[in-house]
Order: sequence, then C-alpha cells, then structure tokens
Amino acid sequence: MKSDIQCLISAGPTREWIDPVRFISNPSSGKMGYALAHAAHNLGIKVTLVSGPVNLKVPDGVCSIMVETAQEMNDAMQELFEKTDVTIMSAAVCDHRPQIKHTQKLKKNRQSSYIQLEANPDILESLGKRKKSSQVLVGFAAETENHLANAMTKIRKKNLDWIALNDVSSRGLGFQSDFNAITMLSKDEETVIFDRDTKLVIASRILKLLF
Ligand code: CTP
Repeated sequence: MKSDIQCLISAGPTREWIDPVRFISNPSSGKMGYALAHAAHNLGIKVTLVSGPVNLKVPDGVCSIMVETAQEMNDAMQELFEKTDVTIMSAAVCDHRPQIKHTQKLKKNRQSSYIQLEANPDILESLGKRKKSSQVLVGFAAETENHLANAMTKIRKKNLDWIALNDVSSRGLGFQSDFNAITMLSKDEETVIFDRDTKLVIASRILKLLF
C-alpha cells in the first residue's frame, strides 16, 4: 500500500548568512521540490518536505520542516532519513558558507573586500553513505556542461539510485520557471527523458518511475 511508504523531499535554496542583513544563496524557487511533494501526496504516499526559504504554500496533507542554512537542512534530513523509504534531494544546497557570521551589520567603509568561505556538508553524499538496500535515494544534478558524464559521476560518488539531470543553462527551464525538462539516469545507466512540461507533470512522471 502506498500509504505505508514514507517519502522525504528537500526543496528550495539554502541561505548562508554573512551578517544580519546579507546572505549567499542561489535562485532556486523550490517549485520542483514542492511539485514532487504535491504529486507524491496525490499518490497516497506520506510526505515530509524539508524546505529552504521559498514563497510557496506547502501542499495540503504534506508535513513540512522549514530551514534556512545547509547545516539546518542537514540536521533535519539526517534525523528523518532512517525511517524513510524514498528520499529525493531536490534542494539547491549552497556548497559553501562564510567562515564567520558577523553579529552586527558590516559597514561599507570597514568591510574587507573578500569573504572567507568554508565547505558545507554534502547532505546527499552523507545520506548515500548511510543508505540501506531497502532505501531509494534520488538526487538532482544541476549542470551547464558535460551533463551526462557529470550526472553519472554524482550517482557513483553519492551512492544514488537515480539522478534527475537538469540543464540549468536552458532558457525558460529550471530555476524559477514553472517548466522543466529532465533526464532521469539510474545507477544501472538506464535513461528516461521527460521533455519540457510543467513541473507538476514532470514531478508526476518522476514519481511514476520511482513507485
Ligand atoms: N547536494 C547536497 N549537499 C550539498 C550540495 C549538493 O545534498 N552541499 C545535493 C543536491 O541537493 C543535489 C545533488 O547533491 O541533489 C547534486 O547537487 P549539484 O549542485 O548538482 O552538485 P554538487 O554536488 O554541489 O557538485 P558541483 O557543484 O561540483 O556540480
């Protein structure tokens, strides 16, 4: 029964604070992850959505945990992962954070010209290390070049079952857009192409492939 299946989905960007009024982030709108949560709930699957800051309504019936930073997203994902059957990491996690988060606003005449960064945890990679054979782990790959080769490298490095390959250089697709086009690649090098469509339609197709 699908109602026995627990699905964990991450969505949206993370924010890495420099000081109380400035952060490093990316243009992820969260629309793909929210569409996946919506489509999974429509299939009768129990869904928990771990979301970075976005301007979207959590779909009815979906449990949500709101986070800001990659570290907060990591904490939530690591805690929930154990009891999850299928995990889909669609969030656009910032790879780096400022080494220092200043407690007061940096003044323009006193701000140094560079910000020292340090690495954030790779959430998906550490979930891949913990994955049991009964669990399915799906990542997203945002690529601008060498798409298939880079996506396949991520499957192997992060121990994934599937990766959803997004060409983020295509105009009118991906980040911010209501539309997407995805190539699903499996660890066995199976390829399934979902041509341009709304993110909700693409999300339903991804879930049909997984369940
Ligand atoms: N990801 C993650 N934690 C990070 C960075 C990425 O969990 N610190 C996840 C993303 O949610 C996505 C997958 O890893 O599912 C691939 O993310 P992507 O940005 O395409 O690649 P990176 O692993 O960050 O590698 P690169 O920036 O070199 O392409």
